[in-house]
Amino acid sequence: NSYRIAVIAGDGIGTEVMPEGLRALQAASEAFGFELDTTEFDWSSANYYSRHGQMLPDDWFDTLRTFDAIFFGAVGWPDVVPDHVSLWGSLLQFRRHFDQYVNLRPVKLLAGVPSPLAGRAPGDIDFLVVRENTEGEYSSVGGIMFEGTERETVIQETVMTRTGVDRVLRYAFELAQSREAKHLTSATKSNGIAITMPYWDGRVAAMAADYPDVRVDKFHIDILTANFVMHPDWFDVVVASNLFGDILSDLGPACTGTIGVAPSANINPDRRFPSLFEPVHGSAPDIAGRGIANPVGQIWCGAMMLDHLGEHAAAAAVQDAFEAVLARGDSSVVTPDVGGSGTTQTLGQAIAAAIAAP
Ligand code: NAI
Ligand code: MG
Repeated sequence: NSYRIAVIAGDGIGTEVMPEGLRALQAASEAFGFELDTTEFDWSSANYYSRHGQMLPDDWFDTLRTFDAIFFGAVGWPDVVPDHVSLWGSLLQFRRHFDQYVNLRPVKLLAGVPSPLAGRAPGDIDFLVVRENTEGEYSSVGGIMFEGTERETVIQETVMTRTGVDRVLRYAFELAQSREAKHLTSATKSNGIAITMPYWDGRVAAMAADYPDVRVDKFHIDILTANFVMHPDWFDVVVASNLFGDILSDLGPACTGTIGVAPSANINPDRRFPSLFEPVHGSAPDIAGRGIANPVGQIWCGAMMLDHLGEHAAAAAVQDAFEAVLARGDSSVVTPDVGGSGTTQTLGQAIAAAIAAP
């Protein structure tokens, strides 16, 4: 098998962790016998935006749409371009135009990564957040009236469509059904948000009938955030609307330690368009250029990408490799954010070396 991958390293530490992500993928392709045909695009703030005054070329959509997947680092360089311009001009274009309606974030406590939650051991926390990524609270329906007067009135509507809600729920139910625990938790707030959230709950209940073997529960978002911290062992697959999912998908990884290891996937499950795999972290201007960024977030994204492409055994081998290297915790190898004195390269090389076919 051969896969065409578009590579966008972006800015800052994106350019430092990307080579390690590619190194791991290369090792996996050799061990498992598939081809990766990568094409790099220098669509960054620091270079591309500085020269062209926009984040992407006008034909980006046609250029990228035929790739099997997009492997993305991080964009943003506030000295050159304001963050809302770099984000809307790049990542959010991909999510919307490629209809990546699932944002998937694993939340897993790894050996060797200190958790901010006291008394939690690896194995206690291992769940997935599925966030609706295209509609909901993040709509452009609304406006401002009587601007600048005492009567100033601002409205922004939540938009839920049956198609939009059902397709992300379907993905979450299928995912839950594929896992050992077969447990799905839905985030709601139907007590306060009394139109859209009861609708969401109703769609969950209707779909649950199709998945009798999946145990379903729901929590209001306020107590759900508390439970992420107090009882992270309660969760297996958590599905949420765009806003709630945004919050949960940052809170989850925060409960498991450094942001440097957290991965995310923006998925178009219909496969009409490429999906995009990116670490949760940004370009980290405060540490950029020092070679100390943790590459595990990027490498973990690579594992998710392999899984999406159907290379499940290779994905598992990459996952096993970074988990083993972090667990070994050799301080001359691992990066400072997990207590070591190693570099992006020493950690990336150790992981690539540990990738092997069974
Ligand atoms: P950030 O994630 O870049 O950094 C937050 C903190 O975490 C910093 O102290 C940084 O040193 C640390 N950190 C991040 N990744 C790390 C890694 N791999 N290893 C070790 N430490 C790591 O978030 P921040 O500072 O809010 O944003 C910086 C720039 O990145 C902005 O321009 C922002 O817009 C952009 N950004 C881009 C994202 C993307 O491309 N998806 C996501 C988040 C931010
Ligand atoms: Mg966020």
